[in-house]
Amino acid sequence: MISKRIREIAKLIKKEYSFVDIGCDHGYLALLARENGNKNLIICSDNKEGPLNNARKNLENYNNILFVLSDGLKEVNIQTDVAVLAGMGYLTVKNIILDSLDYFKNCKQIIIQVNQNVSLLRKWLSDNDFKIVAERMIYEYKYYEILVIENGKMKLNEEQIMFGPYLLKEKSETFIDCYKKQINKLNKILNDLNNEHPDRLKIEKKVLKMKKMLED
Ligand SMILES: C[S@@+](CC[C@H](N)C(=O)[O-])C[C@H]1O[C@@H](n2cnc3c(N)ncnc32)[C@H](O)[C@@H]1O
Repeated sequence: MISKRIREIAKLIKKEYSFVDIGCDHGYLALLARENGNKNLIICSDNKEGPLNNARKNLENYNNILFVLSDGLKEVNIQTDVAVLAGMGYLTVKNIILDSLDYFKNCKQIIIQVNQNVSLLRKWLSDNDFKIVAERMIYEYKYYEILVIENGKMKLNEEQIMFGPYLLKEKSETFIDCYKKQINKLNKILNDLNNEHPDRLKIEKKVLKMKKMLED
C-alpha cells in the first residue's frame, strides 16, 4: 500500500514533466506517476544499491525509466523538468542541492518533503533565490509538509517561515489540527517544567505564536 504522503507528492508532478526522484528507495513515486499517465523520462536515483534494486523490481513493467546509483545528483547527467527530494533530512537535502546547484536552478520545479526542520528549509530557500509556489500538509500518523519550489525571489516574514506562506493562507483543517495538537503538547511540557527552567520562555513564546496564528 503506497503512502498518502507519496500519493500527495505524485499529484504535484505535472503529467507533461520529466522528473528525477532523488533517494527513490522503493520507486513508488515513479509507479504512481506512470499510473497517473506521465509517460516522460523518469530517473530513479539512490545512493544505495539495495533501494535502487527494489525500485528496479517494482518498475520492471514500465519503460523510459533510468536507474542511477548516485549520491544526490552527482552521477545524474540528464536534466529533467522536476527534481523530487522526499523523506530525507533538511541537511541532506540542502547539501544535495548545493552540490548540484546548476541542475536545480535549471529545473522547472523542485518538490521537497523533509522529515523535520521545514522552517529552516524555508529560510534557506529564500536566502538562496528559490521561491515556494505551493505547499501541502497531510496527516499520516504524523504531519508532513510538502513544498513546491521554483527559481526566483520570495520574501518571507517570521510567521511565514514558521508556518509556511501558503499553508498559513489556506489554514486547512489538517493544519489547524496540527497546531492545536502542538499547543496541547507544549502546554503539557510547560506544566512539568519549573518556573526557572531555561527552556520555559522559549516554549512559552512558541505557544503564543501558534495561538496568535490560529486566532488571526
Ligand atoms: C527514507 S527514504 C525515502 C524514500 C522516498 N523518497 C520516500 O519519500 O518515501 C530515503 C532514501 O534516500 C536515500 N538517500 C539518502 N541519502 C541520499 C543521498 N545523499 N543521495 C541519494 N539518495 C540518498 C536512502 O538510501 C533512502 O533510500
